[in-house]
Amino acid sequence: MSAVIELATTQTGAFSSAAPEGYRTISVTPESPRLGAVIGDIDLTRPVSADQEAELKRALTEYQVIFFRDQRISHEDHLRLASIWGEPGLHVGGKTNSKVTDDPRVRIFHADENSKQVSGDVWHTDQSCAPIPPMGSILYIHTVPPHGGGDTLFASMYAAYEGLSERMKRYLEGLTACHDAYDVFGPGTPKADHPVIARHPESGRKLIYVNRGFTKRINEVPEEESRGVLEFLYDHCSLPEFTMRFRWEPHSIAFWDNRCVHHHATFDYWPNVRSGFRIQIDGTEPPRPA
Ligand SMILES: [Fe+2]
Repeated sequence: MSAVIELATTQTGAFSSAAPEGYRTISVTPESPRLGAVIGDIDLTRPVSADQEAELKRALTEYQVIFFRDQRISHEDHLRLASIWGEPGLHVGGKTNSKVTDDPRVRIFHADENSKQVSGDVWHTDQSCAPIPPMGSILYIHTVPPHGGGDTLFASMYAAYEGLSERMKRYLEGLTACHDAYDVFGPGTPKADHPVIARHPESGRKLIYVNRGFTKRINEVPEEESRGVLEFLYDHCSLPEFTMRFRWEPHSIAFWDNRCVHHHATFDYWPNVRSGFRIQIDGTEPPRPA
């Protein structure tokens, strides 16, 4: 009898339909089969209706990262958008690359000829070192490099989980990993243990919850095994079929669900200017074990 070889498949996790149905108060245009959608027919410079709020929340849950174009928002507009989901929060790091505006909840994301590096140019989720990481981040870019560059890459951790072999899923379930951002944010930065496979509190879907930026080791296995498994997972999570690439235009907004998406900032535009503001939204609970 021949052995049954269990193959990982990446043929799962695509949206069932390219044309989203059931949205009445906003338009929703998918950007890739696995994640991302552009939201239209909405003006974020003024309060949105309760129906639009409900559909925005549904779209974020469904598409994991949502985008807006041509929205010349103020800090007040930015905060109002964030408040639909929760409390705008503060960065947990002891030190950060980004500086704050007069309002510490609104951070400046600016790079120019004097920038030696930018934050986030490695696959990561924001501040997963926190016991309760931020649920999401909303980045507004008003100035883009003149010849392209500065794209943000996103990866669906649902699709990455579904692309694992059944054997690997069984191996990973129940493990926890330590997330520590001391190297990046210095003294005073929290660290935390989180499940390797988590379950999203709203969608109920399973996802991979380790990232190259902040995860240091799997707690329940020897150091060498942890290193090998994490390297496999980091490579797996960034496979092209789980990702999409967002090209910024002036006054674009990207809003990612930090609980199920990895992102990566591309720093390929030096010495040109790329500039905007970011707000993060406090999480309400630690990542749930699957
Ligand atoms: Fe980030």
